[in-house]
Amino acid sequence: MKRIGVLTSGGDAPGMNAAIRAVVRKALYEGMEVYGVNYGFAGLVVGDIRKLTQRDVGDMIQRGGTFLYSARYPQFATEEGQLKGIEQLKRFGIEGLVVIGGDGSYRGAKALSRHGFPCVGVPGTIDNDIPGTDYTIGFDTTINTVLDALDRIRDTATSHVRTFVIEVMGRDAGDIALWSGLASGAEQIIIPEKNFDITAVAENIREGREKGKKHSIIVLAEGVMDGKEFADKLDAIDNFHVRVTVLGHVQRGGSPTARDRVLASQLGAKAVEALKEGHGGVCVALYKEELVVRDIVETLDNMKHTPNLDLYKLNEEISN
Ligand code: F6P
Repeated sequence: MKRIGVLTSGGDAPGMNAAIRAVVRKALYEGMEVYGVNYGFAGLVVGDIRKLTQRDVGDMIQRGGTFLYSARYPQFATEEGQLKGIEQLKRFGIEGLVVIGGDGSYRGAKALSRHGFPCVGVPGTIDNDIPGTDYTIGFDTTINTVLDALDRIRDTATSHVRTFVIEVMGRDAGDIALWSGLASGAEQIIIPEKNFDITAVAENIREGREKGKKHSIIVLAEGVMDGKEFADKLDAIDNFHVRVTVLGHVQRGGSPTARDRVLASQLGAKAVEALKEGHGGVCVALYKEELVVRDIVETLDNMKHTPNLDLYKLNEEISN
């Protein structure tokens, strides 16, 4: 393979630039040419494609977001969109494509592979919800951003002896809430993967107050319900005067952590190796500390992401 393409798609994640950089530099090192596709699959179907050089990815490893831009493009689910995309890739002489993104991006890569175009998926999403990999690019930065916010909220919560509900992102997955909640010493973590009982949550707040706790921090994953709704349910049980903070897109920005930069560099380079070795229809992953290449159809159809529920149990044991 002599010429490959790279794109980022779906929600951006810190470390995507580091991953693009690794793809470009590794491909050049291997004697290949690299083309960047702007705006993900939306740019692909209209041929918004340009050649990338060594210098295009200089001064990029530390930057948040993605310099290739991204887009949500549900139209790519149609065969018409997919075939148009392949036509554009062929027009530029591109023989294989690296797709950096989350769930929707993987489905796009899987569809292209099914049409016979070699694609490699690289897990890039703050949600950490891609099956078959322990971590996704961006997750570590996001939980540290959330952690910083939680530490600040704790200061004011303690000063006023208040209960706070902090709604964090994650789509249907609870990983962001789980990891940032445990790391911040949150009293309670509410995630979609675990049922909760609102009266038990209220009881926990009361018990904490009786024990002399000066604050109650509840980290709520957006996949459960929104923060306001949750707070209203609590206030209906007792007059807790719950304050709600929705962290929102602040969680997606910022310079990637060292961990995300290293992971992005490893996975980006591994994706190029996979294409060079003739693999298509695969995704790269970090699994039990090892870099692996997996079949993308197999991964999406048969593997399921589950958060580490030992962390949930641990938080219940040590947070009160
Ligand atoms: O998948 C990343 C993510 O940030 C989710 O956590 C969140 O639910 C969603 O994207 C928000 O999407 P958008 O930026 O399109 O509003």
